[in-house]
Amino acid sequence: MTQDELKQAVAREALRFVVPGAVIGVGTGSTVNHFIDALAGIRDRVRAAVSSSERSTERLRAHGIEVLDLNEVSTLPVYVDGADEIDPGGAMIKGGGGALTREKIIAEAAERFVCIVDASKLVPVLGAFALPVEVVPMARELVRARLRDLGGEPRLREGYLTDNGNQILDVHGLRIEHPAELESRLNQIPGVVTVGLFARRGADVALVGGADGVTQRDYA
Ligand code: 5RP
Repeated sequence: MTQDELKQAVAREALRFVVPGAVIGVGTGSTVNHFIDALAGIRDRVRAAVSSSERSTERLRAHGIEVLDLNEVSTLPVYVDGADEIDPGGAMIKGGGGALTREKIIAEAAERFVCIVDASKLVPVLGAFALPVEVVPMARELVRARLRDLGGEPRLREGYLTDNGNQILDVHGLRIEHPAELESRLNQIPGVVTVGLFARRGADVALVGGADGVTQRDYA
């Protein structure tokens, strides 16, 4: 199977977690695009979605799925999203697609985070994938200096602005042995909007697409 077929397989499997009649949280990325396409097939069972990006919102609406503002939603049983890396404890690097801030907000609001990945995203230690950090533009160089002090090599994602009008520094060269600790530390730097480390609120479940089919890992 190609990597894209593996993504499609986990996306289809994630339909099992959709709670009938409830609002569903929907992430961003190529794996999630397959999930949205699969969701269209059961849209009568979905009340509506909250979405982590303009791209996902557009795709959901194109399939006739209503998209609500998170502020209008009182309960969100499930959030389905991909990841760039996931470690054995369910901590993730996310934000390769630039949607990390809204992803983190929806993940925090959801009762259950279902992560959908192909097996290439499983890592023993996070950090080979450059860690995205969303920054307020006026603080970019200040944050960059602080990230260098921590041993990283931050590179500006050129020509890119997030849905929130901010910039992203992709931090190379980190080996993240203690992801929750680093997440808290980076959150303290003024000008950091969101760190693409999802450790304090990691995945509850991962569906992993590999050569042997889709397997489930439970972290909670
Ligand atoms: C977007 C994300 C994505 O979940 C992550 O980049 C994985 O993307 P893909 O499913 O395309 O491999 O965090 O901000």
